[in-house]
Amino acid sequence: MNPASTKKRLLITGGSGLLALNWACAMRSTLDVTLVTHQHHVRLVNVTTAQIALSEPKHIISQFTQYSPDVIVHAAGLTSVDECELSPARAHHANVEIAKHVAYAAARMDVPLIHISTDHLFSGHHSLSTETTLVQPLNQYAITKALAEAEVQKVNPAALIIRTNFFGWGHASRQSFSDWLINNLRANQDLPLFTDVFFTPILADSLAFGAHELLEGGASGIFNVVGDERLSKYEFALLLADQFSLPRERIQPKQLNGSHLVAPRPRDMSLDNQKARHALRRPLGGVSSFLIELQTHERAGRPAELLNAVQP
Ligand SMILES: NC(=O)c1ccc[n+]([C@@H]2O[C@H](COP(=O)([O-])OP(=O)(O)OC[C@H]3O[C@@H](n4cnc5c(N)ncnc54)[C@H](OP(=O)(O)O)[C@@H]3O)[C@@H](O)[C@H]2O)c1
Repeated sequence: MNPASTKKRLLITGGSGLLALNWACAMRSTLDVTLVTHQHHVRLVNVTTAQIALSEPKHIISQFTQYSPDVIVHAAGLTSVDECELSPARAHHANVEIAKHVAYAAARMDVPLIHISTDHLFSGHHSLSTETTLVQPLNQYAITKALAEAEVQKVNPAALIIRTNFFGWGHASRQSFSDWLINNLRANQDLPLFTDVFFTPILADSLAFGAHELLEGGASGIFNVVGDERLSKYEFALLLADQFSLPRERIQPKQLNGSHLVAPRPRDMSLDNQKARHALRRPLGGVSSFLIELQTHERAGRPAELLNAVQP
């Protein structure tokens, strides 16, 4: 944090994560950003970092207060679906307990909170779930994320809870879905992609801008902040290959049915973003425009900056 700065102050947990890093890059020119880290250290231009344990509310309040945040984004958690399945207690601690402590701390500090949830909460049998569709978690990751939403709402009813699915540039030890596609296609590797798994992805930067806009408009409760387009992982990969001039013939159709995965996964994770579109009075964007922006970030040096931004 820069004490001389007159910018509003933003604190983001999960500071070494994919979303937090891209959120920080998107916001650092307009907000004074501090990334709250856990096991990893982060170095990012014009961004402050603070290593703060999130296991105890009193400690969180005393540490966060030192940064006088105007907004807190909670993006920390255990996000590997298979790791959550294998270590449910760890998943519960990282995704539920910590979310509850951060939400409680934000409420006590009277600082607006954006809590990041997921599109992974449903059975996968329906398209375009809304904010009121009944959650039907299929795995431990989804169970803990659904429980987290309930706990956050209990201790901090004013919290803005964002259900989403995003992509952006990762770092050396954390590849995003788009990194995985780009790196493999650049290496001319064959890539199997599901034709029967659907989502509504959004670029991390667009998610960050949308979330802040919603908060400034006074939004609270659950909002689906996703892209305007529902498509399969296979279709997404083809669009990405075309945008980045990569060999689309390397992308091979595959079915989730018959795949051997540790945790069961929903086939249709698509979310309806009408509520957010209505509140923002604008569309959130389609995949092609997000991919153009992803490429613009690459040309501006974001992946090169992020690649070694995170150290153990
Ligand atoms: N990635 C996606 O496609 C996706 C899709 C939908 C929703 N989401 C949600 O978006 C949020 C951010 O996801 P992401 O992909 O950016 O996550 P990520 O890259 O896996 O990063 C997770 C972050 O959480 C921190 N963390 C993990 N356990 C912690 C603990 N016990 N205490 C404090 N910090 C801890 C990690 O720090 P260390 O590494 O130092 O432990 C890391 O900074 C999560 O809430 C996730 O559920 C993600």
